Amino acid sequence: MEVRIEGVSHRYGGLQALDGISLTVREGETLALIGPSGCGKSTLLGIVGGLLQPSTGKVLLSGKPPADCLNPLTYVFQDFALLPWRTVAENIGLSLMPHGLPANKRQERIAAILVLTGLGEFAAAYPRQLSGGMRQRVGLARALVVRPAVLLLDEPLSALDAQTRELLMEEMLAIWAQQRSTRLYVTHNLDEALRLADRIAVLSRRPGRLREIVEIGVPLSERSKPDAAPALAALHARLWTLIRSEAAEADREVVNA
Ligand SMILES: Nc1ncnc2c1ncn2[C@@H]1O[C@H](COP(=O)(O)OP(=O)(O)O)[C@@H](O)[C@H]1O
Ligand SMILES: [Mg+2]
Repeated sequence: MEVRIEGVSHRYGGLQALDGISLTVREGETLALIGPSGCGKSTLLGIVGGLLQPSTGKVLLSGKPPADCLNPLTYVFQDFALLPWRTVAENIGLSLMPHGLPANKRQERIAAILVLTGLGEFAAAYPRQLSGGMRQRVGLARALVVRPAVLLLDEPLSALDAQTRELLMEEMLAIWAQQRSTRLYVTHNLDEALRLADRIAVLSRRPGRLREIVEIGVPLSERSKPDAAPALAALHARLWTLIRSEAAEADREVVNA
């Protein structure tokens, strides 16, 4: 499905968080949303996901969801947001609860998603027994088990160490190649965006405005190959030039809250 964000602005009381964002996430692509801390990335994701009503503007979904889709939009959060007293399989199963599937269908879906996300051996484990990387695989599995048309990822790798992040990037690319979806991927990490996204939307500091959309001309499957390095380094430099001053200003900002 395609996500059309049209003229979205958002205020929290007197604080203008987003200003006039218009943006389309195309069917089947990963659009990375980058911008300095506090520029409204999570707010925009919340608006797309229907958790927040925008002050002005709207979000339109169009196209057909996958045949076995139970929920068109699902989230993956930075802090995993798992229930500590539920096992891995139970945490994943919670996403299926509202959909009234027969028990065998529910089990089938859970078993398939455990395999897809590399959690086959961890079905009966509790979150506290798992590494951060494994917890986020559960977060992914919970989002994917409903076969969403659109996946909303809010800094999903930001709480993980560099090596785990690398592994999960590889795995996400493999999953996306198998399960078709449209993805809006919020990150403040340029390397992640350059590795995972088809296009990168750059937001200004707060109030978040769309500054530029950068197309990455290198196919996803080539991104980690040495041949792609010069093109990606050039894009990295260009993106950093775009966001550097804003990141520095955001860093020095005193918030009167
Ligand atoms: N529920 C809220 N109430 C008031 N202000 C909020 C709320 N949520 C976020 N903000 C403020 O809105 C701005 C944008 O926040 P957020 O969307 O979380 O930014 P980002 O995800 O880009 O870091 C920040 O200044 C933040 O402090
Ligand atoms: Mg955020």
